[in-house]
Amino acid sequence: MRFLFVMDPVEKMLPDKDTSFAFMRGARALGHECMHCLPRQIFNRGDRVFARARSVEVSDTPPHTKIDTEETVEVGKLDAVFIRLDPPFDTEYAHLTRQLDLVKREVLVLNDPQGLRNANEKLYAFHFAKWMPDTLVAADPEQIIDFVKEVGGRAVIKPLDGAGGSGVLGLNVEDKNLRSIADIMTGEGQNLALVQRYEPAVRQGDKRVLMLDGKLLGAILRVPQADDIRANIHVGGRVEPTQLDATEQELVEEVGPALAEEGLYFVGLDLIGGRLIEVNVTSPTGIQELGAHTGDQPEHTVIRWVEERARSMASGRDG
Ligand SMILES: Nc1ncnc2c1ncn2[C@@H]1O[C@H](COP(=O)(O)OP(=O)(O)O)[C@@H](O)[C@H]1O
Ligand SMILES: [Mg+2]
Repeated sequence: MRFLFVMDPVEKMLPDKDTSFAFMRGARALGHECMHCLPRQIFNRGDRVFARARSVEVSDTPPHTKIDTEETVEVGKLDAVFIRLDPPFDTEYAHLTRQLDLVKREVLVLNDPQGLRNANEKLYAFHFAKWMPDTLVAADPEQIIDFVKEVGGRAVIKPLDGAGGSGVLGLNVEDKNLRSIADIMTGEGQNLALVQRYEPAVRQGDKRVLMLDGKLLGAILRVPQADDIRANIHVGGRVEPTQLDATEQELVEEVGPALAEEGLYFVGLDLIGGRLIEVNVTSPTGIQELGAHTGDQPEHTVIRWVEERARSMASGRDG
C-alpha cells in the first residue's frame, strides 16, 4: 500500500520519540511505501487532489530518514493519508482539511478532516463534561478570578490552542499575580481562556490514553518534574507504565464510540485523577513510549487497522 503523511518537515522527526516516525517504521516493516508532503504541497484542480510528495524510508540507525525526489501523486489513488501536523489548528490546517474532504470517500484519511475541524482539543472534551473537572471558558478576567475562588483557590489556566504544556499556568487566589495573569491570558478580556479546577492527582501523573477507532490501544503515565505543574513529555515529564482503573475504563467506553463516529480514529485522551482533561486529535503522540513499556509494537496494530480499513474502502468502491 501507499501511505501519504502530511506533516511538518521529515528532518524534524525524532526517531526515538515521534509517533509519526513509529507509524512510518511500522508501515515499512509491514511492506508499505510511505510518502511525505507539507500542507502547502497539496493542490487540487477541480475536485481532484494531488500532492507533490517524496517517498521516505526510515530506519532506527542513522541516517534515520532517506527521502526521494519529489513527484506528483493523485491523493485519491493512494491507500491512506495520515494528517500528522502539530497544533495549532490554524487557517492552513483548516484549508488542508477542506481539500482532503474532497477525497475522503476514495482514500482513508486519518483523522477524518471534518472531525479535525469539529474537535478543538480543549473544547471537544466538554461533550463529556461529566468526566471533566469543573472548568470555565471565558474572556472576562473578573469571571476567571471568581471561578478560582469558587473552586477553592487553586486552578489551572490554559490557552485554547496550546499543546505540549505551552502556556499552562497554575493559579492561586493568594497570588498577587492572579489578576495580571488573567489579563495576560485573555488579552485584557478580548480572548477566551480555559480555567479549570486544580487536580492534586497531577502529582501522581497525567495519563495519556491512546485510542484506536474508539477502542483502547494502551496508556502511559507522564509524571511531572518536582518543580513543574506540567507533565508533558516535551517539558520533561517522566514516563511510567500504567493501567486503567475501573472508572477510567468506564470513561473510555463512553467517549470511545463518539470518537469513532467523528472519524477521530487515532486519539490521545489526557486523564488526571480519573478526570478528562483534553482530547488530542491533531497529532497525538506517545506510541513509542507505550511500546517501550509493553514490549510490543502498538504502531503495528495501528498500521494493520489502517490496512484493513483501506481494503474495505477499496472493495466498497470497486464492488
Ligand atoms: N486541571 C489540572 N490540574 C492539575 N494539573 C493540570 C490540570 N490541567 C492541566 N494540568 C497540567 O498541565 C499539563 C498540560 O495540560 P493539558 O490540558 O493537557 O494541555 P496541553 O495541550 O498543553 O498538553 C498536564 O500534563 C498537567 O500536568
Ligand atoms: Mg495534554
